[in-house]
Amino acid sequence: MKVLVVGNGGREHAIAKKLLESTRIKQVFCVPGNGGTATTEGCQNLSLNIDDFQGMERFVMVNNISLVIVGPELPLALGIVDYFQQKRLMIFGPTQAGAQIESSKSWAKELMLEAGIPTPKAAVFTKAEAAKAYVVEQGVPIVIKADGLASGKGVTVATTVKMAHSAINTIFRGEFGTNNIRVLIEEYITGQEVSILALTDGITIEPLLPAQDHKAIGEGDKGANTGGMGAYAPAPIVTPELMDRIQAEILEPTLAALQKRKIDYRGVVYAGLMITAEGEPKVLEFNCRFGDPETQAVLSLLETPLEDLLLACCQQRLGEFSDIRWKPGASVCVVLASGGYPGNYQKGKIIAGIEEAEAKGAQVFHAGTQLKQQLVTDGGRVLGVTAEGETLEQAISKAYAAVDCIQFEGSYCRRDIGRRAVVDKNQIELAPE
Ligand code: GLY
Repeated sequence: MKVLVVGNGGREHAIAKKLLESTRIKQVFCVPGNGGTATTEGCQNLSLNIDDFQGMERFVMVNNISLVIVGPELPLALGIVDYFQQKRLMIFGPTQAGAQIESSKSWAKELMLEAGIPTPKAAVFTKAEAAKAYVVEQGVPIVIKADGLASGKGVTVATTVKMAHSAINTIFRGEFGTNNIRVLIEEYITGQEVSILALTDGITIEPLLPAQDHKAIGEGDKGANTGGMGAYAPAPIVTPELMDRIQAEILEPTLAALQKRKIDYRGVVYAGLMITAEGEPKVLEFNCRFGDPETQAVLSLLETPLEDLLLACCQQRLGEFSDIRWKPGASVCVVLASGGYPGNYQKGKIIAGIEEAEAKGAQVFHAGTQLKQQLVTDGGRVLGVTAEGETLEQAISKAYAAVDCIQFEGSYCRRDIGRRAVVDKNQIELAPE
């Protein structure tokens, strides 16, 4: 079976490598892929753009590709699934209507409220002045969100009114799109963030292992937001009881609300949750795709063949997989980034030490890399060094031993990925009876 994966991040490299673990998969093509997918055996990059639906369709038809898997949100929001479905080609991902759970924050919030899904209070504005007045009325801290896709840059946690007003000005200046500008202003809540990636075929919804992402650039979750500086799975804060509640109070009602809107959603529902100090799960956001870097940590523990699950979603047979199999233990992905990221950074730095890192038992998933004469950096998040262990502590040690083998000028990583879960667990174990 031949598969085409759309995207060029660490998530797509992890999907490609996981597919290639199966003897059923003969070849994976990536559009456009990266330096990692260019050098992975069985994988080949295609120089097509992710919005070139016709180019991909031609390639799929000529080369008998059995399945297309869409990584990033942009082609989903542009309707790639609708396009391929019209041509009767197999594609994993939601239609443009379904992708609105990510491409419009106000649409998603309305769906949550209608379905009674726990989520922070919010208001939507189409005029800057009204939005600013609402901030003054509500006070800070407060969360300002651009309504549409913003490449992970559209959310500001404002700690002062000035900061909130400046974020509103940025959105209304058209920084994240100039049509139909809207801003969603949301109550600020605290707790621990958890990512639940759930597969659905439109009838059944099955969560994968819960994961925790580290969005801030700095250790101790300080500093600017990034696409994600590392992740681990499973997140111990999500106990089996809490997962049952998430299924009953969030995932099932979300699917029911999509069905009520006549949306045949077959793909990933990514629920970004806050688990409050009282242990209540609340939805901060939905995404219409696999998370990055959560996917790198989650898929490395998956034992059920990935292609079986994704095909089952496309063919509405996910009910056959009520028992997704997982390796025991934990997995950690540490992101190595370019110096200066998420601000300005340089590209083209030579990368060394990947073989040595993999010799330590880690998998190195490429994100912002390119194969020229040599392997060079080509983005903000460069590599996702991912390791498994019987325990989270072991996975963390193995991942950092591998990280320390890799060099490129200006490289930066957080040294505390996964540590919070270890500290929390030790605190629980040490707590007096
Ligand atoms: N890790 C955050 C995201 O994929 O949106």
